[in-house]
Amino acid sequence: MPVIIIHGGAGRIKNAAAHRRGIKKALQIGWAILNQGGKALDAVCEAVKYMEDSTIFNCGSGATLTLDGTVELDASVMIGQGEYGAVGAIKQVKNPILVARQVMEKTDHLLLVGPGAQKFSRRRGFKKYEKILEVQKRRLARFKKRGNSAYFPKLNNYLKLGTVGAVALDNDNQIAVANSTGGILGKMPGRVGDTPIFGAGVYATKNSGVAATGHGEEIIRLFLAKYVADLTDGLPAQKAVSKGIAMAKEKNVLCGVIGLDRKGNVGYGFTTKSMSWGYIGKAGEMRLF
Ligand code: GLY
Repeated sequence: MPVIIIHGGAGRIKNAAAHRRGIKKALQIGWAILNQGGKALDAVCEAVKYMEDSTIFNCGSGATLTLDGTVELDASVMIGQGEYGAVGAIKQVKNPILVARQVMEKTDHLLLVGPGAQKFSRRRGFKKYEKILEVQKRRLARFKKRGNSAYFPKLNNYLKLGTVGAVALDNDNQIAVANSTGGILGKMPGRVGDTPIFGAGVYATKNSGVAATGHGEEIIRLFLAKYVADLTDGLPAQKAVSKGIAMAKEKNVLCGVIGLDRKGNVGYGFTTKSMSWGYIGKAGEMRLF
């Protein structure tokens, strides 16, 4: 039986009802693909694409802004056979997750960033697109008014540390992970977080898939997704995720993690006040935060 688990970001979830609706819809999109015998890779990419378009989550059309008021997006995809593709600080593209997938499938490279990533997206037929929500402009204005410095932003439990992520296991026992984010509010232009960093925000093996969310710089330092995936090789997904979260808590890292194992067990956990998540498990049951 296939399985899919999704998160909509860790931190303060203000609009929980909208998150719940968005995650439910993303799960249904992914599950429909898996249930028809489709690939885990298609399921996670389509689920994340929906979340990028929804404007509910901090990714794609709903992305938070840089200090300059621009949108710069990070995304990555990885499959259990070790293939991986990512984009960092890419501008003017609607669905960075689909560009990341093309980096994985159509190039020998792993990570493209900035103008090079954008140029690649145009070459692959992705149209120029930019959406800046008024609500994001207001958030940036408040961020600046509070005297925040982009060099050392004051992160706390009440900030939205959003990313979206999806992990799926298909009928052929293949595992795939997809991640997408607008990054941290008021980040310096050019900043790349954990989301497209191999082993930090994303990791997959034949036995496990893991996606992390939260304070990107610290997640990179912990190599968090790989840490949890390695634990999953010997433990059920929930135990591995809980150990990863305990390690992150010890180091005061604001983060969340979702994961699954080859047997179809799922796991989730967070050190923040909350995280939005949902899954359709191996008995076909749907659970939402
Ligand atoms: N985890 C999202 C970021 O730090 O960019």
